[in-house]
Parts: sequence; structure tokens; C-alpha cells
Amino acid sequence: MEQNKYLRSFGRTKGHKLSQNQEQIIDEFLPKIRPSQDILKAKNIWLEIGFGAGEHIIQLANERVDTKQVIIGCEPYINGAVKVLKYIEENKIENVFVFDGDARDLLDDIESIEKCYILFPDPWPKKRHHKRRIVNFNTIEIIFSKLTDNGMITIATDHLGYSEWIKEVLAPFKYDHSELKTSEECRSNGILTRYCKKALNVGSSINRFQICQCH
Ligand SMILES: C[S@@+](CC[C@H](N)C(=O)[O-])C[C@H]1O[C@@H](n2cnc3c(N)ncnc32)[C@H](O)[C@@H]1O
Repeated sequence: MEQNKYLRSFGRTKGHKLSQNQEQIIDEFLPKIRPSQDILKAKNIWLEIGFGAGEHIIQLANERVDTKQVIIGCEPYINGAVKVLKYIEENKIENVFVFDGDARDLLDDIESIEKCYILFPDPWPKKRHHKRRIVNFNTIEIIFSKLTDNGMITIATDHLGYSEWIKEVLAPFKYDHSELKTSEECRSNGILTRYCKKALNVGSSINRFQICQCH
């Protein structure tokens, strides 16, 4: 039976055994940087859903190291999240917050999103699992309703079936679609994550979608 109010959109939450140091980071540091209600009410949040091993959120943090830009990353897979926690702690980054659960549990409490990234979401390729896909009309509609003026949702996938699904989900919105074929193109579009590299290495191209709250 599903524990959550949503069908689970992610796989395992734990991989190989964590080191003592990693366990300590999770027990002691993570509670300090989980987003509080005050943080969720911040203006113009940058939100990453499913940051995996964290390459992209760390890049965002480095771009905004001197600003008060609130960046929230959600990742229930703790072996991925712990790498980001370590980086944040070691580099004394103060504006990145980590939620180790289902991003949809935060959405109701977030007021204003300037950027939202969903990069290489789990494709759930079997038809009977499609309902688990995180990119679905309900989730996108909620995120879209919170976008600031000129706010943007960026979604990327290398999975062709998911790409077609995303086009259907986004049909009611105005969106931009592009196909990226090289790591240079992906890097310059800010989406060169671990999963992006894996896909490019086996010759797949990347479909990137952007939905803007533009007038
Ligand atoms: C295929 S991985 C991609 C990771 C990373 N974005 C990348 O491109 O390398 C998808 C990630 O999304 C996470 N995920 C899936 N559903 C989620 C949800 N509802 N909230 C937050 N993260 C989620 C999974 O745990 C997984 O780590």
C-alpha cells in the first residue's frame, strides 16, 4: 500500500550502506537545512525536483553564492542527497535547502517560484506505471500557478516515450521545445547532469521543454 497521498514517482530511497560520516551528516546537518515554513514563503524560489547526485543544484548554488536567492532541492534518494549535504556543509553555503522527500509535499506551502527544474525524471517506461510519472498535468499546473512573472519550468528527458507524454501534458501551456545532441549544447543550457551525460554517451539526444510565465 502507498504511504503517501501520491503514487510514488521515485525508486529506492537508499542504496549502498552509508559511511559513519555520511550517517552523521544526515542526522545532524540535514535537519538544519530542511526548508522551514519561513523559507517556503520566500519570494522567487528556485526549486529542483529530483536532483540525484546534485551536479545541477551545486551549479545553481555556485552561480548564486553571493545572493540571498533561496534554492530548494528535493531528493528522496538519500545516497544522492548526502553528497550535496556534504558540499553545502563544507562550502558553508547558506541559501540552499534540502528536502529529502517527495517534492509534491512541499508545493502547497511554496508561494512563489522563479525557476523550477525537473531534469531526467524517472521515465517509468511500462504503460501501467505511467501514472507514476512526476511530470503530469496536476503537478505542472500547481507549479505553473506559483511561477513569478517570467518564471520558468525546465524539464529534460532522454526517453522518447516520456518526451511524447510531456508534449501531451504541456499542450494546454505555451512551451518551448528543443532537441540537444551534444554535451556542449547541454552544458550551455545548464542541464549537463549525470543522467544527461549517460544518455549522451549512448548516443541519445535530449529533449528539453521550457514553460514560461511570460506575458
Ligand atoms: C533519473 S534520476 C535523475 C537525477 C538527476 N536529476 C540527473 O539528471 O542526474 C530522477 C531522480 O528524481 C527523484 N525523484 C523522483 N520522484 C521525485 C519526487 N516526487 N520528488 C523529488 N524527487 C523525486 C528520484 O529519486 C531520482 O533521484
